[in-house]
Amino acid sequence: MSFQLAVIEGDGIGPEIVQASLQVLEKVAPGRFQYKPVLAGGRSIDQHGVPLTDAALTTCKNSDSVLLGAVGGPKWDTLPGHLRPERALLGIRKELGLFANIRPAKLYQVLKDACPLHRETAEKGFDMVIIRELTGGIYYGERGRKTDSDGNTIAFDTEIYNQTEIDRIARVAFDLARKRTKKVCSVDKANVLESSRLWRERVHQIAKEYPDVAVSDMLVDNAAMQLVRNPAQFDVIVTANMFGDILSDEASQLTGSIGMLPSASLGETRCGMYEPIHGSAPDIAGKNVANPLATILSIAMMLRLSFDMGSKADQIEKAVEKTLLKGCRTRDILDNNSKPLSTTEMTAEVISALA
Ligand code: IPM
Ligand code: MG
Repeated sequence: MSFQLAVIEGDGIGPEIVQASLQVLEKVAPGRFQYKPVLAGGRSIDQHGVPLTDAALTTCKNSDSVLLGAVGGPKWDTLPGHLRPERALLGIRKELGLFANIRPAKLYQVLKDACPLHRETAEKGFDMVIIRELTGGIYYGERGRKTDSDGNTIAFDTEIYNQTEIDRIARVAFDLARKRTKKVCSVDKANVLESSRLWRERVHQIAKEYPDVAVSDMLVDNAAMQLVRNPAQFDVIVTANMFGDILSDEASQLTGSIGMLPSASLGETRCGMYEPIHGSAPDIAGKNVANPLATILSIAMMLRLSFDMGSKADQIEKAVEKTLLKGCRTRDILDNNSKPLSTTEMTAEVISALA
């Protein structure tokens, strides 16, 4: 049996890293996937005038999962909000009901020199997962512009959550915590925001279903600080859409490079969307220098979470570790004066480590 995989290469470095990761996928699971190329983001704007066509969305919906490189770039930065490439991402997340974004951030011991933190802090290492709510909050709340009676322009965005949205993301966090060290830290801004006060209430309500898991709360500004002060204190973090967006970029840089971190976006079904957390990096696009590891590791997450191929996922993750241990580095994680590998060289190293 073969699975349908919708493949969105996207913009910038997207095509290079997606092709790299598909080579790895073919190596571990030859012939198991059929690839459906989908145009979304900037390239879709160029070709169809919109970031996501109905046909593209339908292909994603009819697939067993979606793999995405990255979308966006300076060329489309001045378009109005509803025509920006990022809209494609938001549309797919919402339309596929992918409310849970799983962003693991762990410091590989071999990369600890690339970690920007104090030596002692880096030595301790860290291994956390940020669970970001992905289809609610300020990303999807009412927004707009108006003019007041003095002719002053007003713009607004609304942070809004309902109880059901909070309950289901809380359960994702508690379920995951059970498979790890049974600790959940819920991050909010309950000292100011009403939506955060509901968030906190509901998280504690759901926590009662998981008496074996310890739950704590942290304000988001403190969390931003604690991440650089003592990242080892965290295991599972659960938070709202925008807080998760910001904290996951911060956490990623602590691992040495944003070029290392995969992510999964999941809903009620097995179908997920898998993507590196980094963006389209237009400055290095087409130069064959981008780090393909985040996308390769996203393939591993996909095999494990959507296709019950945990042992193949392990194989990929081990191969990546082996490659790093061997000293292979793209230029974003370079720690000495040795020559950085290109995207294709790094990919070839991972593939040979699989064998
Ligand atoms: C991410 C990205 C997106 C987001 C952008 C590109 C819309 O930053 O996946 O973290 O804000 O969700
Ligand atoms: Mg982001």
